Amino acid sequence: MVLKAEIHCHLEGAASPALVESQARKYNVDVSNIISNGVFVWNDFTQFLKCYDGAANLFRSADDYALLSETYLNELADDDCIYSEMFISTDHARAIGISEQDYIDGIAEGMRRAKEKTGIEARMIATGLRHGGPESVLRAAKYIAGNPHPLITGFGMGGDERMHHPKDFAPGFDVARDAGLGITTHAGELVGPQSVRDSLDYIKPSRIGHGVRAIEDPDLVKRLADEQIVLECCPGSNISLKVYDGFEDHPFMALRAAGIPVTLNSDDPPHFHTSLKREYEIGANEFGLSDVELTQITRTAIKAAFVDEETRKQLLAKLD
Ligand code: ADE
Ligand code: ZN
Repeated sequence: MVLKAEIHCHLEGAASPALVESQARKYNVDVSNIISNGVFVWNDFTQFLKCYDGAANLFRSADDYALLSETYLNELADDDCIYSEMFISTDHARAIGISEQDYIDGIAEGMRRAKEKTGIEARMIATGLRHGGPESVLRAAKYIAGNPHPLITGFGMGGDERMHHPKDFAPGFDVARDAGLGITTHAGELVGPQSVRDSLDYIKPSRIGHGVRAIEDPDLVKRLADEQIVLECCPGSNISLKVYDGFEDHPFMALRAAGIPVTLNSDDPPHFHTSLKREYEIGANEFGLSDVELTQITRTAIKAAFVDEETRKQLLAKLD
């Protein structure tokens, strides 16, 4: 059995079609535009974001969010995951008209229940939405900095990487960093190496979400290895979104061989027909990693986790 850890998963993107359909019945909403025959339907990244927002729209109270985070964490724990970081977005709370506080308290309650039942340790990474623009990311960062929560330990940014420039988001990330939050950002997924380099220069993260397209620039690969920037790789997501045609084209093993710390993650599991378990299976079956090597990847994730040192020590001890 390989113990697992996940440091890149969007909470709203982890809601299964079955759970979204049950929420749709609760609120009497038609979801046939985003779910067909029990699967999410979209064709490209822009449609995927719409589908994601459509699913998120069905979680409308603290209780709904408690159910969502508890359900996902219990699933992870069933698959031998000992640690999870979930991206949350106060913009979703705003979109459905609940307070940031209710949103966060609901998620924290789900985390508490899952931990009580399974022992799984979890944290939240607050995120801003890139396509919402720099002002919205700054607002999200200011909210979290001004309303610290013990289980929110990081700040990141997802959304459409093709929009805006990393330097536009520096003020928001400065606020988050000054508040003591760990920093990560999506880059090098839809856009090439320049996006990763600019993110390193202006956003100054210790981790990059995806980052795989750094492989297109050998100098950048060397920089990532020299600076030991951790990549939150999500191979199943990359294939699903057609960043690469197949696993044989995926640079995971090349990045790893170059000395960059790499991890395995599910991103938005049901949208990409994946799970953390499946990502580790991809590691084994497509990339040829042994159980010892997969455990090393879990160790990399826990070393890079936005968590206090005592918890990190306890988690690492489980791997020995
Ligand atoms: N939000 C949810 N999933 C995402 C992804 N794969 N890339 C960017 N933003 C996202
Ligand atoms: Zn992501």
